[in-house]
Amino acid sequence: MIFSPKPDSLKDLEFDLNAPDKSLSHRSVIFSFLTQGRSEIENFLLSLDTLATLKIAQALGAKIEYKRKDHFFITPPSHLPSSLALQCLNSGTTMRLYAGLLSAKKGEFFFEGDESLSKRPMQRIREPLEQMGASFSSPYAPFLLRGNANLCGIDYFSPVASAQVKSAFILATLQAQSQGFYQEKELSRDHTERFLLHLGASLEKEQDKIKITPLKNPLSNYKIRIPSDPSSAMFFVVATLISSHQNLKLKNVLLNPTRIYALEILRQMGGKIQYEIKERDFEEIGDIIVSSSELRGIRVDSKIAWLIDEIPALCIAFACARGVSQIRNAQELRVKESDRLRAISKNLTQLGIRVEEFEDGLEIVGGEFQSAKISSFGDHRIAMSFALVGIRTRVEIEGVECIGVSFPLFLKQFEHFVEVKEKE
Ligand code: S3P
Repeated sequence: MIFSPKPDSLKDLEFDLNAPDKSLSHRSVIFSFLTQGRSEIENFLLSLDTLATLKIAQALGAKIEYKRKDHFFITPPSHLPSSLALQCLNSGTTMRLYAGLLSAKKGEFFFEGDESLSKRPMQRIREPLEQMGASFSSPYAPFLLRGNANLCGIDYFSPVASAQVKSAFILATLQAQSQGFYQEKELSRDHTERFLLHLGASLEKEQDKIKITPLKNPLSNYKIRIPSDPSSAMFFVVATLISSHQNLKLKNVLLNPTRIYALEILRQMGGKIQYEIKERDFEEIGDIIVSSSELRGIRVDSKIAWLIDEIPALCIAFACARGVSQIRNAQELRVKESDRLRAISKNLTQLGIRVEEFEDGLEIVGGEFQSAKISSFGDHRIAMSFALVGIRTRVEIEGVECIGVSFPLFLKQFEHFVEVKEKE
């Protein structure tokens, strides 16, 4: 696909991204298994990752009653099958959260995923879940999980700051026979805690630990309308910042502070970005207002888990900023849908930008892009981040189909900013 500058882009834009939050969409389905009765989910993300989660829920026996494709009721089954194969495709969230949920159920669950997911580390969930009493046949997918209806709660320190690991641990412990404690290297994104607290779970902060008390009764059922995904909004925020004389308002975006830290970094770089919070329920929701800005280089080396998915797009902003930028302590990027440090470094080098790659990060010197043909590395966020280059110069990206993993309408929405063409 070819992305190139658009002579006549609109200077004042206001729209709803049509990209419901991926993390909340997964959770809205998976958490229903801890409830009894019917919950209502509106504006569910219809992407490959989240549809994999929904399909597995149905295979586990959940009843789905559709109002529209993205608006339905979900009722969990009274009994789960004693064995099932779970096809998680490209989705780490699907695999890790279902593993947490099912580790507490008597049965044999065979987890599989695509080539990329089969290379991603599952030892990080296997270790705590095995200590609790479940068993895994392998630290990588495909693996067989033998669940155990008598899990015991443990006191666990996670060496990685990962919302997926934390969520798997919490889901297992809520169904265990005794209390558990979870501590992580640095606080990861907190959707699971917010959502489950809202449904009545007992998750208490004790110093740096979360104390999780097993459920005595099912959680309350719920009605949720999913707001737009800040990780998808990020591409449009950076697009506006690096365009000239552009203003943009993105409506109804999830503004959870552990998700918009990348926007804070962009602000520190000189980006003109504001938020208008419209709703505060268990998550903050509102509008993001942004205008084209001169950006300055920056060093980022903490709270990496709060901007983990936004780093590829942030690196495009680094390449457009004046001076040198660094991102460090970001070795987690090597085990995402691709080795993102490698992918960013290779693509930026092809595009004529000076980059140095470290084991845990990158140093990027701001400059002018030169036109090039680059790869998505089969990774949706690499594809969308590098499409941003099209605002400044013509770029050809191979393998953009992967965008459907998280944001099927991206190419259509991005036509507000660039010309998008199939190969000439
Ligand atoms: C997610 C957590 C993050 C993120 C992923 C979605 C979630 O992964 O990269 O896209 O929904 O919990 P880690 O928590 O493993 O870093």
